[in-house]
Amino acid sequence: MVIVRTIDALQEAKNALSGSVGFVPTMGALHKGHLSLIQQARKENEHLIVSIFVNPTQFLEGEDLDAYPRKEAADTRICELSGVDILFMPTVDAMYEKDELHIGAPAIRGYILEGEKRPGHFDGMLQVVMKLLNLSGANNAYFGKKDAQQLALITQMVKNYFMDVKIIPCSIVRDEKGLALSSRNIYLNGEEKERALSLSRSLKRATKMVMAGELNVEVIKKEMLIVLEETDEVEYVAIVDREFNALDVVEIGNTMILVAAWVGKPRLIDNMWI
Ligand code: PAJ
Repeated sequence: MVIVRTIDALQEAKNALSGSVGFVPTMGALHKGHLSLIQQARKENEHLIVSIFVNPTQFLEGEDLDAYPRKEAADTRICELSGVDILFMPTVDAMYEKDELHIGAPAIRGYILEGEKRPGHFDGMLQVVMKLLNLSGANNAYFGKKDAQQLALITQMVKNYFMDVKIIPCSIVRDEKGLALSSRNIYLNGEEKERALSLSRSLKRATKMVMAGELNVEVIKKEMLIVLEETDEVEYVAIVDREFNALDVVEIGNTMILVAAWVGKPRLIDNMWI
């Protein structure tokens, strides 16, 4: 595995590769969710590039940019053991200049749900993902369904800008109790971890209702909110189609149920595709 920190070093390392390239962009503090993306990319491509970059432009004022977990040594080891060819860990200065042009998230889909609660977050996320996809020159790039809105916006960016890369959605990885893995879960103490399970429980409850024939979105949301009373604060429960349009009635095969809530220090998100 080659570790590169500059754009020139990345280009040089890439030139030594021939054959299909898979790419997994991350912000590090790697867990089994990231690992599942890395393993899938490893299987489906001849070469594998992983990036670790805590991207400042996608954090809002007051968010946890400085406190975001950083575990370079452990992450490097995980990548080495996972058959990564190139590990790209750039500095902020390598990635950005002062007076940049900006890519904006779409006016509607980029400013509902996560985009409403974290205005500007998706602009910064798309900006860095555009840079990373261009730099990697990958044929296939892997993103988790855990960040469903992020995945949808990246897919749209690739389509709108005619970018030559295939975006591959990957399943959500959970712990044995159902908690969706996240780098921010390390902020949860034991009691909070228990309460954090109410996110996935609310989604399971919703799925059960749908399987029992209840398709009315308002009825399902009400039930979910009861399960979510264990959290400290619910930010949203949304039932939308795969394009993020609000639904009145669940459309089986075309629906996502999304939830965001605070438990202790972290803000958690989870979703289920139906
Ligand atoms: P990060 O939160 O590190 O996540 C990197 C990738 O791992 C994303 O595609 C995310 O959806 C996926 N992922 C995280 N937890 C997962 C889980 N439990 N199951 C499956 N996949 C999971 O998302 C980002 O970084 C950044 O916004 C980034 C795209 C790197 C741009 O800065």
